Amino acid sequence: MELKNQIKSLLKHVILAPSGYNTQPWKFKLGQNTLEIIPDYTRARLNTDPDYREFFMSLGAAATNLEISAKNIGLSFKKSYRLNDKDNDYAICYKFSDSKNKESYAHPLFKAISQRRTNRSPYLSERLPKSLVKVIRNLPYPNDVELNLITRPGDITTFSNLIHQSYFNWYKNKLLVKELESWLRDDLSLSKDGLPTGVLNLYKLAVNAKYVMIKKDQSISDRSEYSQNLAKNSPALILLSTRHDSVQNWFQAGEFYELLALTLTSHGYSIDFFNQPLFLKKSRRDASRIVGSQFQPQLLFRIGLPTVKAPKNRRRPLKEFLIS
Ligand SMILES: Cc1cc2nc3c(=O)[nH]c(=O)nc-3n(C[C@H](O)[C@H](O)[C@H](O)COP(=O)(O)O)c2cc1C
Repeated sequence: MELKNQIKSLLKHVILAPSGYNTQPWKFKLGQNTLEIIPDYTRARLNTDPDYREFFMSLGAAATNLEISAKNIGLSFKKSYRLNDKDNDYAICYKFSDSKNKESYAHPLFKAISQRRTNRSPYLSERLPKSLVKVIRNLPYPNDVELNLITRPGDITTFSNLIHQSYFNWYKNKLLVKELESWLRDDLSLSKDGLPTGVLNLYKLAVNAKYVMIKKDQSISDRSEYSQNLAKNSPALILLSTRHDSVQNWFQAGEFYELLALTLTSHGYSIDFFNQPLFLKKSRRDASRIVGSQFQPQLLFRIGLPTVKAPKNRRRPLKEFLIS
């Protein structure tokens, strides 16, 4: 197969990457031996992700899938970032070449790309095995990325309380709830993006957001308590942070997140997010203070052994992403 078609054949794995609200905010510019992952600004969430942090992290997650699936078929590549702040022109760029010894390249995380799901079910509360903690600690950390593994019960409780408070405040903001609503998809909808309501109790609530917002402080409180309990009963939380709030660091956070997610998947573990505290300035500062970090918090999530298998998530067809 010519190189361009080989690169193209990787894209079906790339689009399985996670993205905030399942917006799939990427485009792929394919050349003879090059590929650029570029932002699709029409998919931005202007209220719930005003700084585009999750937006660019999602592109980073796609980059990891690309790299793993390229290595899996023995393609080598050179990677660079295009970071042109003046024109908002950003890209993760790859230049590929065929490498020789194809058979020896099978990548241990390749299978996890199609198995990974964000799993919002409760997790078993048993402690993480030491061997898994070691695996997490030994991942290749980029210089600007920091991971705080939170396993001490006292720290988990402190974070759970922060989660409770920030969910409560978040749900009271009509603009935020409205934008979340706009990405919710009925289970019967044929839409290939967004969040299905049936599997997500969290989002089911948001469907009734007007009711909740106008009258029912109690419902918001119940909802926040539900998230708080999910966090509290998890064996571990992770706060992923970067040195700076910059597009390059967000790319790197997303790349690292997906590497971690695939690694955990390959050990049977799942991830679910609690990003609301990081949306609000004060609780974002609180999050870094609790772990004693000077870095900027980017993602907060729980990890554990899920109790229910998560359904497969929707993806838009490849042709919608491809620029040749
Ligand atoms: C940067 C980023 C932020 C995310 N934030 C949240 C979140 O706050 N809450 C949540 O439930 N899921 C969050 N997700 C998970 C997405 O909703 C999920 O990846 C998407 O719906 C696709 O589903 P999948 O991960 O099962 O393939 C996030 C994913 C990424 C990459």
